[in-house]
Amino acid sequence: MKQTRFRSILFVPGNRSDMLHKALISEADAIMPDMEDSVRDEDKASARDQIHQELDQLVASGKPVIPRINSLPTGLTSEDIAAVMHPGVWMISVGKMNAVEDLLAVDAMLASAEKKSGLPLGHTGILPWLETARSLLHPDMLLLASSRVQVCAFGADDFAADMGFLRSSDFRQTAWVKAHIALAARATGVWLMDSPCTHFRDLSPLNLEIEEARMLGFRGKFAIHPAQLDVINKGFCPPPGEVGKARQIMEAWNRAPSGQGAINFEGVMVDEPLIKQCLQIIAQAEQFDVK
Ligand code: GLV
Ligand code: MG
Repeated sequence: MKQTRFRSILFVPGNRSDMLHKALISEADAIMPDMEDSVRDEDKASARDQIHQELDQLVASGKPVIPRINSLPTGLTSEDIAAVMHPGVWMISVGKMNAVEDLLAVDAMLASAEKKSGLPLGHTGILPWLETARSLLHPDMLLLASSRVQVCAFGADDFAADMGFLRSSDFRQTAWVKAHIALAARATGVWLMDSPCTHFRDLSPLNLEIEEARMLGFRGKFAIHPAQLDVINKGFCPPPGEVGKARQIMEAWNRAPSGQGAINFEGVMVDEPLIKQCLQIIAQAEQFDVK
């Protein structure tokens, strides 16, 4: 089955073959060879060629490979798409999506590239970055524009640039817009990934960003360095204490006489909505093998 539930996706500049191969043996749930902002204009063509040449080997690793291509205003999108059409590439990523028309344009480019490459129509998913003020006015409409969208991302750096402020580590700067996109992602059933944390030596800003993102309903986060992966993978699993408590509540609930719609668990009322929360935590823990 095509995986769409990622705790971590590791970015690798597309023109860095050494880093691409290291990424394959990392703990990342998926890797994202990048042709967009981590590659300078003069290196765009070589990054595209490099990724194209390495695709067989990259997908053979079994790790999901999600190339990020250049956004529509660059004029490079369709050439980039042609370079990454591959039976083993079942999702590509595109930044700076502004409106439904942008998603439909990428959808149409993919449909035509799939036809040319003999891939089934709809084979390739789109992981859009919602990172401009325009896209975040109505994120639900973008997420519903194409059935290719199963996963999306919030980009804090482009968002700060578009809003005209410098990205800071103050949670309040983007909490409001992150809550808005989290709501849209949940309502449309799309898996939501958070921007990478740009501090890769000191892991404390990363820990804070994870805590905040998870609290808002984000499901995973991009990494820009393998050293960030362990923290991200653990951070997007329910903590063992939370899982243990959810299991205890479930045991108490299952022991309660039938017909009792609410029970007392250690002085706290437990009823159906809390049971739903517990079941979700237990399901997540099982998916990611948390004891
Ligand atoms: C990522 O693409 C960002 O803009 O933060
Ligand atoms: Mg961006």
